Amino acid sequence: MSMESAVLARYAQAAQVPDAGLCCAVDYPPRLLAAIPQEVIDRDYGCGDPSRHLKSGEAVLDLGSGAGKACFIASQIVGPHGRVIGVDMSDDMLALARRNAPQVARNIGYANTGFRKGRIQDLALDLEALDAALSGDPLLGLAGYLRAEEIAAQLRARQPMIGNDSVDVVVSNCVLNLVDPLAKRQVFGELFRVLKPGGRAVISDIVCSQEVPSELQQDAELWSGCIAGAFREDEFLNAFTMAGFSPVRLLSRKEEPWRIVKDIEFRSVTVEAIKPPNASLPIPATKSALSIQETSASSGCCNGRC
Ligand SMILES: C[S@@+](CC[C@H](N)C(=O)[O-])C[C@H]1O[C@@H](n2cnc3c(N)ncnc32)[C@H](O)[C@@H]1O
Repeated sequence: MSMESAVLARYAQAAQVPDAGLCCAVDYPPRLLAAIPQEVIDRDYGCGDPSRHLKSGEAVLDLGSGAGKACFIASQIVGPHGRVIGVDMSDDMLALARRNAPQVARNIGYANTGFRKGRIQDLALDLEALDAALSGDPLLGLAGYLRAEEIAAQLRARQPMIGNDSVDVVVSNCVLNLVDPLAKRQVFGELFRVLKPGGRAVISDIVCSQEVPSELQQDAELWSGCIAGAFREDEFLNAFTMAGFSPVRLLSRKEEPWRIVKDIEFRSVTVEAIKPPNASLPIPATKSALSIQETSASSGCCNGRC
């Protein structure tokens, strides 16, 4: 089973039944929670609160939005002139977030939040649009695989789910560690691509004090539980720098570890990374994944791990 399949299975289950093992206690302002239905609050799997760094009127993208709690908090902070997009690859999490969005809109008096299906390492590709495009196509064998790739490339180019330079802030709460090892590097390139010049990423995630040994990295339970895929703390900050962000700074760091496994401390941090205002135009979405991999591979930012 790939790590992505393990993550999908774990969060499909966690969308149905709250999983206390995935929670990392976070205090949110009670007045913002009041508008959010209980089934969403019960499925909070975050480890920080990037939403407290948002401002009125901003366009916000939440990577790995889960049940939607962070989006619904953000929607109240950015207000009726801002907007919030949540992206998740789990049908079960998307269904949960989407069925609660109308109730939140009624409670706060406006609707400014939507949820899209995609992988955060490939934000140009709308997986529901791909599914629709493939549904009438009898794709078999190698020719079918190549045709599916071609359709996906066309969708990325012609109707990107999240366009270049399109959002003020990208937030994410306990998700980057879950991304497949080979795709981790792409995530940082996608963050950079979708942010407007001068925009910022505010990311809460679990980091670790030492490199996670490879036998632990093969453990699907530890991976989907936000342990085995954690970045070493210095490599996490460095990955933003290598993608072009400057400055990059720690906004918060929990001194008390969330977990200790084999003497390695796992704790929550929140990082802010700015896309420079004069950043050059991003690489076209269809090419970005490959080019970013090539660029970062030569830089050796995380020994090829991120
Ligand atoms: C630990 S939960 C966090 C959910 C939410 N951010 C919160 O604070 O409750 C991780 C979420 O990220 C999603 N996810 C994991 N890897 C992903 C990927 N590569 N692309 C899109 N979504 C992903 C999972 O489906 C799940 O909903």
